[in-house]
Amino acid sequence: MDINRIAPINIAEYQNLFLLTGAGISVASGLSTYRGPGGLWEKADVARIADAANLPGTLPDLWRLYKMRRAQALAAEPNAAHRAIAELQRRWGNIHRVTLVTQNVDGLHQRAGSIEVLEMHGSAFRTRCLDRRCSLEPFRDENLYDQVPACPVCGGPLRPDVVLFSETIPGRVLNRILQELSTCDLFVSAGTSGVVTPAAEFVRGAAYAGARTININIEPTDPPNPFFTEEFVGKAEEVLPRLFGLG
Ligand code: OAD
Repeated sequence: MDINRIAPINIAEYQNLFLLTGAGISVASGLSTYRGPGGLWEKADVARIADAANLPGTLPDLWRLYKMRRAQALAAEPNAAHRAIAELQRRWGNIHRVTLVTQNVDGLHQRAGSIEVLEMHGSAFRTRCLDRRCSLEPFRDENLYDQVPACPVCGGPLRPDVVLFSETIPGRVLNRILQELSTCDLFVSAGTSGVVTPAAEFVRGAAYAGARTININIEPTDPPNPFFTEEFVGKAEEVLPRLFGLG
């Protein structure tokens, strides 16, 4: 699509902005998506490793996977899409509500300068005790472990603080998201296939709230999702700066 033909949004017209991002937004930073050719879920055994139902036996493999994901994300730099969102928050965050929800665990929004990021699938850079009853608080962690690390409190195994298959979104994060959705008047989704719930259903919540709803993806949604009022088929790193009037 011709980016120059996109009319920038008049942000001043909106009070409560809700932004949802997925793996596609980090492709220009060199990270791969989950689905599609070369996607993470295509790699041998990854779906089994990333399923909490197979813990604790899969912990060595899970840490091998997250050693790789941490290393890749640390080597990557935020791109124009991350920067556009951070700039939108900087410019408008004091005047309007700007809620940023990401399904990504790569930390690139924060590194681009985004102030508050609701990480609904957790963070590759946080570690917690496998035992939920342990008093250890999840902690920031960039270590590239070769072995399963031990909990300093209870001695049990630690795990990455990400949401795996068979697990649910932390209630505190989900409640906050649903609250913001119910009052948003502009909803922008970028770089997500929209097939994983509950994020896939957020647009419906926004539409029910009466919001203008925009989808950005390099592929048109198939079949079309009637809850989106507009769809921009293009790269998030090109469309977002233009749409926010920053490029
Ligand atoms: P997916 O891999 O499902 O989808 C990525 C989307 O990004 C695809 O629809 C691509 O067409 C699109 N895309 C690729 N490059 C793009 C670009 N430059 N600009 C815009 N769009 C682009 O990733 P998610 O939708 O994020 O959950 O996946 C959602 C969840 O499914 C993930 O968080 C993960 C996975 O299972 C957990 O691990 C819990």
